[in-house]
Amino acid sequence: MTATSPTGNGDVPALDMDGLSRILFGHAAFQYLNAACELGLPDLIAEKDALTREEIRDVLGLQDRAADILLLGCTSLGIVVKEGGRYGLAQVVRDLMEEGDWQRFKDTVAFEQYIVYEGQLDFTDSLRENRNVGLRRVRGAGRDLYHRLSENPHLEQVFYRYMRSWSELANKHLVKELDLTGRSHLLDCGGGDAVNAIALAKANPGLQVTVFEIPASGAIAEKKVAQAGVGDQVSVVTGDMFQDPLPTGCDVVMFAHQLVIWTLEENTALMRRAYEALPAGGQLVIFNSMSNDEGDGPVVAALDSVYFAALPAEGGMIYSWAQHEECIHAAGFRTVKRIPFPGWTPHGVIVATK
Ligand SMILES: C[S@@+](CC[C@H](N)C(=O)[O-])C[C@H]1O[C@@H](n2cnc3c(N)ncnc32)[C@H](O)[C@@H]1O
Repeated sequence: MTATSPTGNGDVPALDMDGLSRILFGHAAFQYLNAACELGLPDLIAEKDALTREEIRDVLGLQDRAADILLLGCTSLGIVVKEGGRYGLAQVVRDLMEEGDWQRFKDTVAFEQYIVYEGQLDFTDSLRENRNVGLRRVRGAGRDLYHRLSENPHLEQVFYRYMRSWSELANKHLVKELDLTGRSHLLDCGGGDAVNAIALAKANPGLQVTVFEIPASGAIAEKKVAQAGVGDQVSVVTGDMFQDPLPTGCDVVMFAHQLVIWTLEENTALMRRAYEALPAGGQLVIFNSMSNDEGDGPVVAALDSVYFAALPAEGGMIYSWAQHEECIHAAGFRTVKRIPFPGWTPHGVIVATK
């Protein structure tokens, strides 16, 4: 995509025909990425440094035509680089591997393929009806995606593997930036498999953490807590954070990748519940991706919003910092601090005080 003229949309480059055709065939570009990951092409090249077409074909067990298609796509998209008849890896993929994030990236690819892809077909209807029409494509009777995962073991596995990886791509910054000095007990509302609870507990040895999860997912968190050997610091309580009393005795309430799922009204209601559960001086922590206040990016926030519009629950998106802050003030909190994180995901944290 070449960027030559300003669009009036902040730093967004002007769209040319190359860029427009990449959007037109965006689904196909993703299928090359997914196939490369599933067939193990980048891992194979990384192992050997650079390989010929024939070596790749033979190790991946592909026929000539299939190898030609895969290499045509991956080369033209820049995932692999062809030099002197041998195929090497894009520097960006090498960087992900060197930083230890490649498996996390692949877990995200699998989530897009097996959970997001089909539901997105209902994106237009989801916008028209202002609700998650795509949930109809996930088998089960649960009221939202999370209450259907236990009915779909493969999806449940793909989802929690991705959720752990997506959290890990950014929670090193959370651990570094979130000052929990003097705090004794953090409640992790909708804490998933406890990935963030475990990271915060390890970084703050005096801290107790309670993960609050729906009954169907509580056992997943308990298993991870036991595996991490932090059972003396992290406990799991099951219930419904919209209806059941929140566990008491906490001086920090965290919503991690949570307030992207629900409507702003539901978010305000959840924050009011957090406010009531906290003592004076208690902290509210919001950790997730954010879009900018101008409503024109970043592009990953926009693209990720298709999933939240079409699939998990009735209303959600990658909200802007300002939208979260409006809910925070409506719920009664006073001081608010924004901390954007570095990296390719649009993560950040908002901390508010009662
Ligand atoms: C997007 S995941 C985030 C998981 C985790 N916080 C993380 O950042 O990795 C949302 C989690 O909220 C949980 N959840 C959904 N509805 C809930 C409810 N009503 N009460 C408690 N937890 C809920 C889901 O089961 C799921 O594990």
